[in-house]
Amino acid sequence: MAIKIAILASGRGSNFLAILNEINAGRCNAEIKVLITNNPEAPAIEIAKKNSIPVEFIDRTKFKKREEMDDYIKLLLDKYKTELVVLAGYMLILKGKSLLEAYRNRIINIHPALLPAFKGEDAQKQAFDAGVKISGVTIHFVDETLDGGPIIYQEAVDISDCNSAEETAAKILKVEHKAYAKVVDSFSKGAYVLKGRRTQFINFPIKK
Ligand code: GRF
Repeated sequence: MAIKIAILASGRGSNFLAILNEINAGRCNAEIKVLITNNPEAPAIEIAKKNSIPVEFIDRTKFKKREEMDDYIKLLLDKYKTELVVLAGYMLILKGKSLLEAYRNRIINIHPALLPAFKGEDAQKQAFDAGVKISGVTIHFVDETLDGGPIIYQEAVDISDCNSAEETAAKILKVEHKAYAKVVDSFSKGAYVLKGRRTQFINFPIKK
């Protein structure tokens, strides 16, 4: 069975598109039920519309507190019977307790650096400016911390030949596009269980 996913994106949506392409090519066993965005001008919306994927816009200004907005996101996720929440360039930190608890270990994010190095925004520029030779991609569970949830998958990218932060970002992005769909696909084949902070993949059927 294809896993039902919701994409949360605020911008360009290239990871969203990459996952969609892999699904359509039969390499990612998932079904995108909805795109949720906080940005009415996100190019990701066009991608969803072209592919007949429902779009839910959440207006930050309609909520007094961010927690309330996240409660609403939880309702949307429930409505679309979401099994896995995929953050793909979603630029707000999830703060709602009920959302984080209800979807514990079912919300994943992609970060364009090898965590725990270079957390937060502009990770590729941070890595380039720091002069590191190797950076990469991290896919991790989302918890209450910033880019601090348990790591699911990492892939190193040699950035020693990059001449700018932009080149660094472009080189890492290519790897993101392949890696994210692979990780999403793996969720349909099993589960990641946590031993402390270490994730371990278990194929179905899971023995209890
Ligand atoms: C990606 O670099 C991702 O790692 C980061 O935000 C960017 C989103 O890009 N979290 P896109 O919207 O998927 O093109």
